Amino acid sequence: MKITFYGHASFGIQIKDIHILVDPFITGNDNAKNIDVNTLKADYILVTHAHEDHTLDVETIAKRTGAVIVSNYEIINHYQDLGLEGHPMNHGGSWDFEFGTVKYVNAIHTSSFPDGKYGGQPGGFIIEGEHKNIYIAGDTALTMDMKLIPLHTVLDLAILPIGDNFTMGIGDAIIASDFINCNKILGCHYDTFGYIEIDHEEAKRKFFEKDKDLMLLEIGESVEL
Ligand code: NI
Ligand code: MN
Repeated sequence: MKITFYGHASFGIQIKDIHILVDPFITGNDNAKNIDVNTLKADYILVTHAHEDHTLDVETIAKRTGAVIVSNYEIINHYQDLGLEGHPMNHGGSWDFEFGTVKYVNAIHTSSFPDGKYGGQPGGFIIEGEHKNIYIAGDTALTMDMKLIPLHTVLDLAILPIGDNFTMGIGDAIIASDFINCNKILGCHYDTFGYIEIDHEEAKRKFFEKDKDLMLLEIGESVEL
């Protein structure tokens, strides 16, 4: 499994020869100017919730690639009305895709499209694929529901928001890491706008002091699991 950071909460996940994009928000991110949205590969696009900083480039990429969009029922209805292909899910449900199993899990946040249209309830994803399991929390507060995750999945990595203000900050992300029983954390949802700027070294040090590893990738950088 190869994970590439495209800035903010956008990731590419490659499992064997299948390309999955998560929450593509690239053309609206000044920090991601070196990423060309027209060359990104996508067989599937996973969308955690409807906010613009997670959906801005979904339509463009899905139209070009024919990718199947995977999200909650309301978000998939929205994209199917635009003629795009989607797979609707809802909280607590799992589905076996060609690349592995995806479970849509709870998140505490909101989920409206930029025009105010209802975007269902926000969520996160657990992907079990190629003997590696990851948790993509989406935008969320710290929630006791995270304690449910290790009851069904042993995680190899978790992608957690750490920018504070709109989501968990560093302190709550460290507690989340305990709740999900995973000490290998990839940070997201920081530095993109003024409200969520963080001190990288301080954030890494705080995780390190709890015997945890916080990875902060450069935009375009990848990790292999
Ligand atoms: Ni959001
Ligand atoms: Mn967001």
